[in-house]
Amino acid sequence: MEQVKVLFVCLGNICRSPMAESVFKQYVEDHGQADLFQIDSAGTAGYHIGEWPDERTLNVLEDHQIRHRSRAQQLKSDDFYTYDYILAMDHSNLADILELKPSDAKAEVKLFRDYDPNPGDKIVPDPYYGSSQDFKQVFDIISRSTESLFEKIKP
Ligand code: 4NP
Repeated sequence: MEQVKVLFVCLGNICRSPMAESVFKQYVEDHGQADLFQIDSAGTAGYHIGEWPDERTLNVLEDHQIRHRSRAQQLKSDDFYTYDYILAMDHSNLADILELKPSDAKAEVKLFRDYDPNPGDKIVPDPYYGSSQDFKQVFDIISRSTESLFEKIKP
């Protein structure tokens, strides 16, 4: 069966989108559906290429027994032909993604929280200059959105 391909995108690819990548990967694994998905993350900016996620992201993931295995990379135009869904964490990411999107690209570009059953202001707030509490809040938003994203896009 054709895999559903999902790319989570934030600014630096060290706080929010790697968390979303690993939470979603764990979720599909726990539901025995890992083979049906290709899941990755990227940043619109290139400041942190090659780095592991921020320690505060890794700590929150570890608190939930979730491993993270990938390093930061920057969004590139090929991604628009590879992925079915490119999901932005906030409006600024969304605008940057749409600017890079080729006109014939197949990817559907949306806010991740378009899938949140309790979407609030629709953004996954940037926790980079925040506290570990802000990272926990980001985790809660991501977990909730993951479940309904899975239900909407599973093959
Ligand atoms: P992220 O957070 O976009 O969730 O990975 C940030 C990471 C780095 C920076 C800003 C936000 N930065 O300015 O370096």
